[in-house]
Amino acid sequence: MQQSASRSKHFFYFILINTFIFVRLRVQLHLNKEFNHKYQTMYAKTLGQFIIEKQNDFPFAKGELSRLLRDIAIAAKIVNREVTKAGLVEILGETGDTNVQGERVKKLDVFANDQFIAALKAGGECCAIASEENEDIIPIDSEISKNARYVVAMDPLDGSSNIDVNVSIGTIFSIYRRVSLNGPGTHEDFMQRGTEQVAAGYIIYGSSAMLVYTTGKGVNGFTLDPSIGEFCLSHPNMQMPKDGKTYSINEGNYLHFPEGVKKYIKYCQEEDKATNRPYSSRYIGSGVADIHRNLITGGIYIYPKTTKSPNGKLRLLYECNPLAFIIEQAGGVATNGYKRIMDLDISELHQRTPLFLGSTEMMKKSMEFMEKYKEAAV
Ligand code: AHG
Ligand code: MN
Ligand code: MN
Repeated sequence: MQQSASRSKHFFYFILINTFIFVRLRVQLHLNKEFNHKYQTMYAKTLGQFIIEKQNDFPFAKGELSRLLRDIAIAAKIVNREVTKAGLVEILGETGDTNVQGERVKKLDVFANDQFIAALKAGGECCAIASEENEDIIPIDSEISKNARYVVAMDPLDGSSNIDVNVSIGTIFSIYRRVSLNGPGTHEDFMQRGTEQVAAGYIIYGSSAMLVYTTGKGVNGFTLDPSIGEFCLSHPNMQMPKDGKTYSINEGNYLHFPEGVKKYIKYCQEEDKATNRPYSSRYIGSGVADIHRNLITGGIYIYPKTTKSPNGKLRLLYECNPLAFIIEQAGGVATNGYKRIMDLDISELHQRTPLFLGSTEMMKKSMEFMEKYKEAAV
């Protein structure tokens, strides 16, 4: 009698524990399903899908620009693949050549340049390319490109000094509608102000790879999901904070800076609770990476003229204009210290300009200093 009572008690506990386990598993399963659903909806929109959706924003769009962006994304994935295994294969180091700017050429500079050129040629939507790595434009004269309406200017590998040391690097691109009528694109097609850009963007090869671009209707960021090999919308409608606490400048050149820049740097370093100073100094040496960080957290990036480089270092066509377009579209400001970058006239492919670019409030302050010390000698 007692034995049977204890058996039923055991049986009861057995059922109770199993029911508990069963319910727990069901709940877990449900939560997993919900998580997966959410995760997939958050990350499922690929760059390709997004571009096609956005195509409707442009009346008369025939999909050419969408295909051009797709071609750029393909080259970016290939470059990213090589960047991530740069230490494993023969891709680190210098080629032994110098480029048109007199800078030592790294192997990855050449590799990236070749990949983007090949993708743009194969895509058929681009009639000429201007690259940091090529002295002259590359006109495209092929059957497939004979109706192409766009030209692309690019810095295929930005932050070359960081290639060999595993620090973030990037690619910058800028797209213009051709002004020449037909045939391969011409030099004139690139001599347009930044305001004429149809689209611009950058790719950052960082802890993850991201493609950020604008077509003049806001800025969107896509992170490469390596498991599916697709850039997926991760940063919709990026907005740059109006103010920030980070200034990015190569302070090693301090002695050669214009007086306005020297005074602004001192201002950033002063103690002032009300304005959150001193600010932090952050300088990676890859413009794309410095500007990407500042775009997300707020900040200012400055590459001024120096006594050694009276026109600054960065190139208007394929560095400053595209970065300025993105920053403005995200709510920031980009100037040469006095004038809006995208309003500057261009007469040379590799023309340089000083660049001040960042959060509105910080830009306002830095430009006040530039104006105040305008007459002071460099
Ligand atoms: P690139 O590697 O294409 O020549 O560009 C590097 C640029 C920019 O991205 C970076 O902020 C800056 O040059 C670094 O220059 P310094 O080493 O003179 O600071
Ligand atoms: Mn560069
Ligand atoms: Mn470069």
